[in-house]
Amino acid sequence: MLALETSCDETAAAILRGDRSGHELLASEVASQVAAHEKYGGIVPEIASRNHLVYAPRLLDRAASAAKTRLSEIDAFAATSGPGLASSLMIGASIAKGLAIGFGKPYLGINHLEGHLLSPFFGVEKNGDNDIKPNVSLIVSGGHTMLVVVRGLTDYQLIGHTVDDAAGEAFDKVAKMLGLGYPGGPEIEKHAEGGDPKRFDFPRSMLGSENFSFSGLKTAVRYLLAKLHVIPSEVEESRGVITVEFQRDPSTPLRSARDDKLLADLCASFQQAIIDVLVTKTIAAAQKYRVNLVTISGGVSCNQKLRGQMRDASSPKGIEFKSAEPWLCTDNAAMIAFAALLRLRAGFESHVTEEIDPNLALAL
Ligand code: KG4
Ligand code: ZN
Repeated sequence: MLALETSCDETAAAILRGDRSGHELLASEVASQVAAHEKYGGIVPEIASRNHLVYAPRLLDRAASAAKTRLSEIDAFAATSGPGLASSLMIGASIAKGLAIGFGKPYLGINHLEGHLLSPFFGVEKNGDNDIKPNVSLIVSGGHTMLVVVRGLTDYQLIGHTVDDAAGEAFDKVAKMLGLGYPGGPEIEKHAEGGDPKRFDFPRSMLGSENFSFSGLKTAVRYLLAKLHVIPSEVEESRGVITVEFQRDPSTPLRSARDDKLLADLCASFQQAIIDVLVTKTIAAAQKYRVNLVTISGGVSCNQKLRGQMRDASSPKGIEFKSAEPWLCTDNAAMIAFAALLRLRAGFESHVTEEIDPNLALAL
């Protein structure tokens, strides 16, 4: 199975070999475009699609040579067909469709969220245990925060989603307020090391609901910064990159020991507020829907504190916990190839006339 992932600002290609007994990842290539978009302060769709056009053929070549195979030897082609940026999705899907038509092989359009959702089973399936067991799945990325009851492959029930910012988006926005780099999640996790997660009592919103809201938390951080006279100030750097400086007062040095402690406590307290919400709702959903497995996926699930605390909250309740390896949590094509392989084996195929869908839903 060869898969392409071009839903946003990563171009990725992967080749996965699979048979009834398991699978083996032969190649997984990712080209990040973070640097190309950084100076605009966000993703520019036109630039993303032009970069996908440049990178995708190179990644295909690299993947084929890493897998020691030729494109003509591939048995099926897949691409992310949504959700994502229309002009970016179109590049990967068009290439995969073209290859499928050219070589007379099946084509599979894969939902990006299904790729994340199945990723915790990637290693499991390799060991021959290829059932997607019933689970409550928490998908937490830069664009999505959702809780899904999974009853088996393709049987997904969306039970909760964010009503405003995604969890990863909250990490990114708060990191920006604190003058940290992009993506914000790993930056906040790093700076939270040694910080006191109880120092600032940030809100845990909508705990009684299966939906999520993180914009209040973001606003609470903003108000606290103002109260502490930590003024996020926009500074134009010489290379044209807009950054926000973290400063208590313009006259004090930026990196005093005191500021580092404050920054660590802010990061740890913010991170803990997000984790409390994610863990509480996921465990409550597992109990409500009577499943004894929870899985987490998406970029935010790289967070070691989140993984550790989800595991710690699961085991006393007799709930098993599974997460993908960190390299599989952020956007990649291996997860798309894996979803495609499972679907192909289960008898699913897409028609090459099937369009991409920027708003493709995982489940109703
Ligand atoms: O799944 P992903 O690569 O892309 C989307 O589909 O959105 O997720 C990217 C998001 C970013 O918001 C990033 O800040 C967040 O995942 N992220 C993290 C960590 N690593 C990545 N958030 C918290 N802690 C991390 N270690
Ligand atoms: Zn993603």
